Amino acid sequence: MFPVLLPFFRWIDSTWLSHEIRDSTWQFAIFEMIHLIGLTMLLGSLMVLDLRLFGFGIKRQRTADLSRDLRGWLTSGLWLILLTGVLLFFGEPMKLYANASFHVKMLLLFLAIVFQFTLFNRIANGKEFSPGVNKFAGALSLFLWFGVGLAGRGIGFL
Ligand code: HEM
Repeated sequence: MFPVLLPFFRWIDSTWLSHEIRDSTWQFAIFEMIHLIGLTMLLGSLMVLDLRLFGFGIKRQRTADLSRDLRGWLTSGLWLILLTGVLLFFGEPMKLYANASFHVKMLLLFLAIVFQFTLFNRIANGKEFSPGVNKFAGALSLFLWFGVGLAGRGIGFL
């Protein structure tokens, strides 16, 4: 689909790490399991925060306080999922090169990370915006991150 990227995927495929993961019977499965633990930490904390922006869930705490309390879970979940994602990528680069669901996932992931560390963080950290903007940010965050998750699940079906 992106011929310009083909040499890069071929190079990944030829690396020692890629052979190591492909030749092992358990490594891919273990990395995928940790990937899903990271997913639970990331999406769980984001969901609590996004629902708060909608005015649901934990209402006794200010959004900025909730965001501060959840930051550790969110950041470690994100690191865990990104690190294991890269290892999974090394485990099957040529399959992923031709997989439309993986392309959608990477696009949504890029958009989700940009959105998360710009407008979303300003809102969650207490910058004053109208309730409409807060709801929009919560909805967009849910859409992008769950979109990444669904596209990740879709990789195995294409
Ligand atoms: C650097 C970023 C990431 C890369 C390179 C990556 C790569 C992968 C790969 C290669 C798989 C295995 C696909 C298969 O063969 O079935 C996978 C599975 C999956 N990923 Fe990621 N991923 C990344 C980040 C994420 C994030 C941020 C999320 C969620 C928000 C996510 C959610 C999932 C899900 C739900 C699965 C399916 C697990 C299953 O079917 O058991 N991934 N990912």
